[in-house]
Amino acid sequence: MLSTDLKRPARGGAQDLFYSQANTKGLPTIVRGDGVYIFDDKGNRFLDVISGAMAASLGQGNERVLKAMYDQGMKHTFSYVRVSRHLPNAVLTEKVAALAGPGFERVHLSSGGSESVEMAIKFLRQYSYAKGDRSKTKVITLMPSYHGGTLATIGWTGDEDAAAVWGPMAVFGEKIPAPLSYRPPFGSTSEEGALGVSAALEAKIVELGAENVLAFMMEPIGGQSTGANVPHPTFFSEVHRICRKYGVFLVFDEIVSACRSGKFLAAHHYPDFKPNVVITAKGLGATYTPIGAMMASAEMVDELAALTGFNLSHTYNANPITCAGAAAVLDEMTERNLIANASHLGAKLRARLESIKENSPVVGDVRGQGLMLAIEYVRDKQTKEVFSEEIYASDRIRQIGVDHGLMLYSRRQNGGRYGEWSVVCPPLIITEQQIDDLADRLERTLEVFADEMTRAGVL
Ligand SMILES: Cc1ncc(COP(=O)(O)O)c(C=O)c1O
Repeated sequence: MLSTDLKRPARGGAQDLFYSQANTKGLPTIVRGDGVYIFDDKGNRFLDVISGAMAASLGQGNERVLKAMYDQGMKHTFSYVRVSRHLPNAVLTEKVAALAGPGFERVHLSSGGSESVEMAIKFLRQYSYAKGDRSKTKVITLMPSYHGGTLATIGWTGDEDAAAVWGPMAVFGEKIPAPLSYRPPFGSTSEEGALGVSAALEAKIVELGAENVLAFMMEPIGGQSTGANVPHPTFFSEVHRICRKYGVFLVFDEIVSACRSGKFLAAHHYPDFKPNVVITAKGLGATYTPIGAMMASAEMVDELAALTGFNLSHTYNANPITCAGAAAVLDEMTERNLIANASHLGAKLRARLESIKENSPVVGDVRGQGLMLAIEYVRDKQTKEVFSEEIYASDRIRQIGVDHGLMLYSRRQNGGRYGEWSVVCPPLIITEQQIDDLADRLERTLEVFADEMTRAGVL
């Protein structure tokens, strides 16, 4: 008989059975979704502060997207991209390229974020190899950062704790410090930090030998790994200049930031300092369908196709149902002006978060761009001291958030060495009223946490 006990049935069970039991306390069982809300089996309603996994931009139950996928599936469910073509693929890539603009005319589709990151780096390696630059294999990334959970992307991700388990299996890339605005790795301001990291990039390229360095990959707005860190603008001009100088490809991982920053790509905020390749995923399928994309210029893609080609694919890449769904997602975003809306809704949400910061003893920083925001938790606002591992502030706040109708996310990456935060990135369809509701609930959640810490003598 099928067990309906999702907690710990004899067989099967929900995915969280694989996760640390310490971090799955109080997980609600979700049975329904509506717009920006999800509901559990006890009838509790939660505002989805993190859009599923920074992905559900259109919220739950968008009929247009679901219908587009159903209609496409009934017409033509699947044919393999290696042996045939189909229109939904071309329709979607045309829309993505139009939004991405010059320099990103070609769009390679895959099944999610990590796969797209791998595709981007493999594409650049294949391009360099085909052109005779065969020693180019090194990829430089930031510490901390996140680029995925496959064995290859674990190697590029900036997580100091990954090496213990995965070190003997993954190929670890070269790391330089991330230009964190709240905790600059060099100097004392965000700009000094950015200049220091740029110098570190140049020094690393010289140390490795430019002929060996394939790419520098970074998130233009951080996701969970840095809590929406936005590097100082100087960083964008400097990394562009340095990558050009040494013939190193510049790659933007926009798996989270695309669609959320107020422009389609965060790269569009720096039009003079374009990357060679951009990767996106989450907002593209808006959780309706697993999809990722890697964008590059027609010049590069067509040049490579005339040489060896980039002959890699996975079964579900560019499948028709996914393409139809993602095309409908983009139509919704465009017609409802959701991408641009992220700017003014983000400004409103940010203002509320700033005022929470002023009044709360545990909020040290508010940062981000558009509707990709985060709040950082500290034990001491003067010294920026982080809460201890035993307290695991972000997870305790997540749990209190559940009691206040909020679905938050926590992950103490890098053992909290770089701080601890909650990302605040609700669906792009959120209304101004719902933003106030979110902020009110978050304020109460943080008051409860601060009271707990005061009673425990921690504050
Ligand atoms: C910046 C960034 N890169 C890559 C990934 C990996 O994407 P996925 O989980 O779809 O494999 C993520 C996922 O959170 C991400 O935030």
